[in-house]
Amino acid sequence: MPMHAVAAMIAAVSMAATGAQAAVDALDRPLTDAPGDAARGRAIVVNRQLGLCLLCHSGPFPEERFQGTLAPDLTGTGARWSEGQLRLRLVDSRRLNPQTVMPAYYRSEGLVRVGAAWQGKTVLAAQQVEDVVAFLRTLR
Ligand code: HEC
Repeated sequence: MPMHAVAAMIAAVSMAATGAQAAVDALDRPLTDAPGDAARGRAIVVNRQLGLCLLCHSGPFPEERFQGTLAPDLTGTGARWSEGQLRLRLVDSRRLNPQTVMPAYYRSEGLVRVGAAWQGKTVLAAQQVEDVVAFLRTLR
């Protein structure tokens, strides 16, 4: 194959790859039929075993003494992001930023070094993701 054809093929493939990535900024379809519950979502966010969000994030949680400084303050996330954008950030932040330290809360494929008990499981259940999204939407 002539060199210019190879170069054209490579360009086409990389364009397709970036095109596919740029298209995904939101997951607009809820993961469950039942709507998210903001009060349950708040409980998950401040829970030190379940959500662990405050390990990295701070936010409007006056009762929580120790809050993280590694990640953006969650205050105002509901004004900055749509429901679908928030869902994608929780499901798998790596789809937006491959280097992020934020865990993928609803992804069970493509993880490395997952303990046997956790294989095929997600960090949060689908309904819990929807609850957290509903709560984050209230943070204006
Ligand atoms: C280990 C650290 C860590 C944990 C735990 C974590 N995050 Fe994050 N999160 C980050 C970082 C860092 C970012 C910044 C964006 C990036 O890295 O891609 C971020 C970004 C976000 C964003 C977008 C914020 C913005 O305004 O730009 C939201 C919303 C969010 N996280 C919510 C959560 C919620 C809710 C939880 C718990 C269920 C959580 N995060 C747990 C590290 C973390």
